[in-house]
Amino acid sequence: MNGFAQSLAIRTLLHVTGLPDMPAAVFTWWVEGIAAGAANYERDPGKQRQADEAGAAVDDMVRHRLRRGPEPGTLLAGLAASGATFDEIAATTKLLLIGGMQEPRDLFGHALTAYLANQAVRREIDRDKSAIVRLVEEALRFGSPVGTVTRRVTAPAIVSGVPLDEGAIVLAVLASANRDPRHWESPDEFHLWREHNQHLAFSAGVHSCVGATLARTQVRIALEELLTAYPSMRLAEEPVVRGWEFRGPTSLKVDLGGAGATTPAGDVAAARAAVQAATRATAQAAARAAAQTAARTAARAAAPVITLQVADLHRPVGDVAVITLRHERGDQLPPWTPGAHVDLTIARSDQRFRRSYSLCGDPADRYSWRVAVRRTPDSRGGSAFLVDALEVGDVLEAVLPRNTFRLAPAPAYLLVAGGIGITPLLPMARSLAGSGARWRLLYVGRDRDAMTFLDEVEAFAPAVEVWTTADRGRPDLTAILRSVPDGTQVYACGPEGMLHDLATAATDKPAVTLRVERFAPPAEPVAAVGNERECRVWLARTRKEILVPKDRTVLHALEGAGIIVPSTCREGVCGSCETRVLAGAVDHRDHLLTDDEKKRGDVMLVCVSRGRDENLALDL
Ligand code: HEM
Ligand code: FES
Repeated sequence: MNGFAQSLAIRTLLHVTGLPDMPAAVFTWWVEGIAAGAANYERDPGKQRQADEAGAAVDDMVRHRLRRGPEPGTLLAGLAASGATFDEIAATTKLLLIGGMQEPRDLFGHALTAYLANQAVRREIDRDKSAIVRLVEEALRFGSPVGTVTRRVTAPAIVSGVPLDEGAIVLAVLASANRDPRHWESPDEFHLWREHNQHLAFSAGVHSCVGATLARTQVRIALEELLTAYPSMRLAEEPVVRGWEFRGPTSLKVDLGGAGATTPAGDVAAARAAVQAATRATAQAAARAAAQTAARTAARAAAPVITLQVADLHRPVGDVAVITLRHERGDQLPPWTPGAHVDLTIARSDQRFRRSYSLCGDPADRYSWRVAVRRTPDSRGGSAFLVDALEVGDVLEAVLPRNTFRLAPAPAYLLVAGGIGITPLLPMARSLAGSGARWRLLYVGRDRDAMTFLDEVEAFAPAVEVWTTADRGRPDLTAILRSVPDGTQVYACGPEGMLHDLATAATDKPAVTLRVERFAPPAEPVAAVGNERECRVWLARTRKEILVPKDRTVLHALEGAGIIVPSTCREGVCGSCETRVLAGAVDHRDHLLTDDEKKRGDVMLVCVSRGRDENLALDL
């Protein structure tokens, strides 16, 4: 770690900040001193002394550099020109030093360990080096190089039942959030193809890490260089991973692939050459990143597309088709969990539609997926085609299933389905029935003839109540929620009116948690509400077109299509998601690009900005 990753991080950082060249030992002494002070929860006077000495040395160095005049184009020059006081410049420099050395080093260690220790990860990367972008993102989630951030409570609040007073200091454990089983599928596994991998490794919002783009770029390029130069690299011994406030491998010895050479002790010349090659390439990219341009050059990997064939299709009630899909070659399909949905791409003459459907079969069946599709009255073609024209043998495309509606551990469950909203709840019911959990399912429909999967649902009696509105009217959801035990998790899917009534009923019973799945997935709020319009985005490198509905951000639509664009703040302040625009006018809504950059219109921050016209082409 010292021989390669740390040396690379230091050289990159010196280049970007404009600090003088210095021996790595001096730099490391500074950073370790500052870090000792930052994590000195036990108020150890020895650590405090170390922090004070290192802090004073950095202050001297900054003072000297400012007196000489910092080199133009560096971060120090930017800080000096910003009108910041000396104390502000010195404090920022310390943050840059500590963040810029340890964190990229540890991220590199987490990513390389995953590559070397996990055969599935290695196979994918060796097949397609552009997936290194995904390796870096998943290593950020999985490894969480920075474990915690501190916040002061500005107004009294209750978080997970714990009352927080104004002024209290809260330590938010990012590393836990990044492995929270309520949010992540198999959180303790390293999955290259996670969808919506919106981890919190750089924190979030306006305080998120300023070095995120630099760190991602640096580690991506370092891995590209190293894995290309040493394709047969192997772990020489088990890596040692330490720390929780700052976490990463302290030792990661590898066999570079020569005759038993190891680094740093073995093939020192080869290791040095790799360091130099990676440092050169990284230093160039780092300079671009500092100028907010590096992110756009990242090669982005799209999730693999699975080709599916319709194996069975029947229409149990008039406007619903139940479709069984298998892999075109009969292969095993990717795993999924109850509540998951899959995006299907349907080609119809010269049009392509992409629609999300909940998986409603049995997760244990790894060779087929089942979806039920209802023809919506305002169908723009996708559902109408699936219900009316699809035939056995037809071919569809899908990307990996995603689950944003996952069963969380709870003392009791209430599932509420309205009409075709039964689809995500059916696998949940199956899993709860087999688990011995305390649960009930309320299945509401107009009349029995209009309700799909009735026999499968009624097999769960007596946990199930089938409610037909034609003869009983709408169920009293307030009374139903009042009757469930405290702590119950309520999962609901159905028409908007029913979900709205449930949300109102839930305000009367704060001891339950309501989770809903809409037929159209909930929208990520767009940055400014104006004359929003739908926009088509052509992805030039992936050769795909995606539709950005008017209530979604471009970033959200890209993620839905399996395209990863690194994002950190998702508020238009950090620059992580900067993407090159090849054609089309941009409605810039970020707080980062200069007026000139906005006028030029050749880049956009896809987390908030949109197309001014109906069509955009992006370099993705
Ligand atoms: C994998 C690499 C990195 C990780 C995981 C990371 C993580 C973080 C986190 C969690 C924060 C706290 C944000 C908050 O309080 O909400 C932060 C802040 C910060 N990071 Fe990073 N960081 C990384 C790389 C870097 C690099 C390369 C630099 C500098 C070149 C850097 C400079 C900073 C600075 C200056 C702040 C303070 C921002 C502020 O207070 O507004 N970081 N980083
Ligand atoms: S994610 Fe920060 S600007 Fe888009």
